[in-house]
Amino acid sequence: MSVYGDTIQEHSRNPRNYGALEDPDIRHEDVNPLCGDRVRIELSLTSDDTIDVARFQGDLCVIAKAASSLLTEMIAGIPVSRAAEFPEQRLLDALQAEIQPARRRCALLPLEVLRSGVSEWLRR
Ligand code: FES
Repeated sequence: MSVYGDTIQEHSRNPRNYGALEDPDIRHEDVNPLCGDRVRIELSLTSDDTIDVARFQGDLCVIAKAASSLLTEMIAGIPVSRAAEFPEQRLLDALQAEIQPARRRCALLPLEVLRSGVSEWLRR
């Protein structure tokens, strides 16, 4: 049996939406200060400010990579203003595994980066 659940293993081995966009509307990158792992999230928006495509890149642990993969799948098609309010619990539930408190920051790193990037964009 693996340390992590099947969903985490699968998304970590075959991350969805890994890569960069040529000309993203939103790009934000940040680091988990606890470990130094880094993730960049890029979004392209439709003309009515809905998320069209989301991509991510970074040096990430298994949990953070799976969370980034799942998050970029889940936010496609939603209004960008709502992405800033994406619930933490929804992302944690999507991982389908018990995330120990010490690893919670790993799971939520991409969401922190998404929120910061969207907040900056909303203030522009
Ligand atoms: Fe660094 Fe998970 S150990 S984000």
